[in-house]
Amino acid sequence: MILLSGIQPTGRLHIGNYLGAIKNWQEFQNKYTSIFCVVDYHAITVYQDPKELKQNIYETTALLFAAGIDPKQSTVFVQSHISAHTELTWIINCITPMGWLERMTQFKDKSQKQGKERVGVGLFDYPALMASDILLYNTDVVPVGEDQKQHVELTRDIAGRFNKLYGKIFKLPKAIIPETGARIMGLDDPDKKMSKSDETYGHAIYLLDSPDDIRKKIMRATTDSLKDIRFDKKRPGIYNLLTLYERFTGDSRKAIEKRFQGKGYAEFKQELADIIVEGLRPLQNKYKELTVDKSYIESLLKQGADKARPLAEKTLQLVKNKMGLL
Ligand code: AMP
Ligand code: TRP
Repeated sequence: MILLSGIQPTGRLHIGNYLGAIKNWQEFQNKYTSIFCVVDYHAITVYQDPKELKQNIYETTALLFAAGIDPKQSTVFVQSHISAHTELTWIINCITPMGWLERMTQFKDKSQKQGKERVGVGLFDYPALMASDILLYNTDVVPVGEDQKQHVELTRDIAGRFNKLYGKIFKLPKAIIPETGARIMGLDDPDKKMSKSDETYGHAIYLLDSPDDIRKKIMRATTDSLKDIRFDKKRPGIYNLLTLYERFTGDSRKAIEKRFQGKGYAEFKQELADIIVEGLRPLQNKYKELTVDKSYIESLLKQGADKARPLAEKTLQLVKNKMGLL
């Protein structure tokens, strides 16, 4: 079974990315033939400062390896290093109805924010590029956060339409959504998803944050004026913090609630902060080691692209043949 996922190099990675994506990817490696793609062409669907983009591609990749994704076991590469991704996107564009893309909620949200005169065609077409990423590798499963589920479903529809028009080529991929931690919320505003693009201090804990920053951010995190520490979705602040505790420790909800019975928020937060600091420490140490020599990460990315390219080109060739392209 083949597993593929992608991550945008659009900013510093936070614990939402870690719990909602990367930690699971690391665990999936043993079960599936895994491919992970740093999707720089997705990133540029909104303007990126060139210097920052370069740094983010580098940092995102290094963090994947630091989080335990093993370059010997899995294939990790940068999307723009394999031109088959954009070539297949063009072909997909030609069989995908505009209406399908217009229904994508992520596009609706993002384009409403920017206005139609400013938003790029690439942003509209983003799901077609994502479908290419997935379909090029005969992917069976796609681990993503809830927000990306609609794009994986669209990929199935695109694959189905393609198979109907030109004969069976593509497998229909399935999304895998993690049960808890699928959506980590902002610490400053637990009604909003923790997001790379929100730069308010205290909104997100970044994977490379210092212990000091982690502690400060947890202690300041928005909760409520109630007292008891329970998993109650109606109390989004404390629910979010408890989810973090659950995901970092692996303890059951019942055990966690019991542990903090009769205790106050401050005590809970202190313990949570310690757990996050310790939970991120091995990753942070590994990151330091990996990035001593910058060319090391670059060499791993070259290896990854060299491994993935023949697979992608084979699918692209098959598609072209089926469609009657010479
Ligand atoms: P992004 O930061 O949007 O590029 O997302 C990278 C990966 O992390 C995707 O699989 C997302 O679904 C996941 N992700 C992003 N933000 C969160 C969050 N706050 N909680 C859980 N998963 C997230
Ligand atoms: N759109 C995804 C996100 O923002 C990233 C992505 C691009 C992806 N291509 C993919 C995820 C292919 C899974 C499979 O999170």
